[in-house]
Amino acid sequence: MNEPRGDTTSIARAYQRGLTLLVLSVVLGLALSGWLQGWVGSAHFSVASGVGGGAATGGEVPRSRQGLVLTAENRGQVLFGRSCDSCHPGGREGRGVSLLTPEFRRDFKTEADIVQLVRDGTCNMPAYNRFLLADEDLVPIAQFVLNRAKVAATAASAPPLPALDGPGILQHRCASCHARIDKPIDARDVQVLYALDTMAKCAGLTTEQKTVLRTFLQAQQAR
Ligand code: HEC
Ligand code: HEC
Repeated sequence: MNEPRGDTTSIARAYQRGLTLLVLSVVLGLALSGWLQGWVGSAHFSVASGVGGGAATGGEVPRSRQGLVLTAENRGQVLFGRSCDSCHPGGREGRGVSLLTPEFRRDFKTEADIVQLVRDGTCNMPAYNRFLLADEDLVPIAQFVLNRAKVAATAASAPPLPALDGPGILQHRCASCHARIDKPIDARDVQVLYALDTMAKCAGLTTEQKTVLRTFLQAQQAR
């Protein structure tokens, strides 16, 4: 008859121990969060007063995550962050390609080039129609991408790459994919001209590149 009673007391003890632990952890948690808030708050304050002492004395509450607040100036950056950054992190390579390379600067010269690619999509990038991304949102994004690429190019201070000619486009924009799935593309094959509209979109060619490639292919066919 002693055993069950012993059981109940050990259960009660265990319960008490559990309760003590719970209370302790709650108290600790509260203390920790209080300390963290104080710490973040003060770090925040010192940064704000260090950077903009004038504004701080004006009684303005410093905003911590300014980058995420949509303003007229950062519109392109913030919207890029929402729609594109997941695949082009900071414009760099991720699931998508880098938008900061000299090759990107060579191929995408204008906002319109970027807008068109985003509207059409490619074989590897989803298309964004006007319901997904309105014009007034896409244009600032394109401006942001173009500016970032310009700054990156200046930093690299390399001479600008010459535009790709027909064979260059076939090699750099088409062959990478076809090498894996098919026999090499033969520019004299009339199929290539037939497939141009679909494949230019698939490869994300700009209008200019598509025209250059078409002219090159037509010259090849005539031979
Ligand atoms: C789901 C991933 C994904 C998202 C989201 C995405 N992209 Fe892309 N993007 C890609 C991939 C992959 C490529 C390479 C396409 C190819 O080679 O066919 C690419 C290519 C591009 C290119 C052409 C680069 C080149 O040199 O050929 C541009 C410009 C571009 N993306 C801009 C954007 C913008 C602007 C957004 C946001 C509106 C965006 N992308 C969102 C995956 C993505
Ligand atoms: C993202 C990968 C990819 C890129 C980039 C790409 N293609 Fe293709 N292409 C394909 C796939 C997939 C098919 C369909 C293959 C099939 O069904 O046999 C195809 C089919 C074709 C065909 C038809 C082949 C046939 O015999 O029916 C031609 C021609 C072609 N591509 C040319 C091009 C050209 C030119 C470019 C560059 C502007 C290009 N491709 C870029 C993936 C790609």
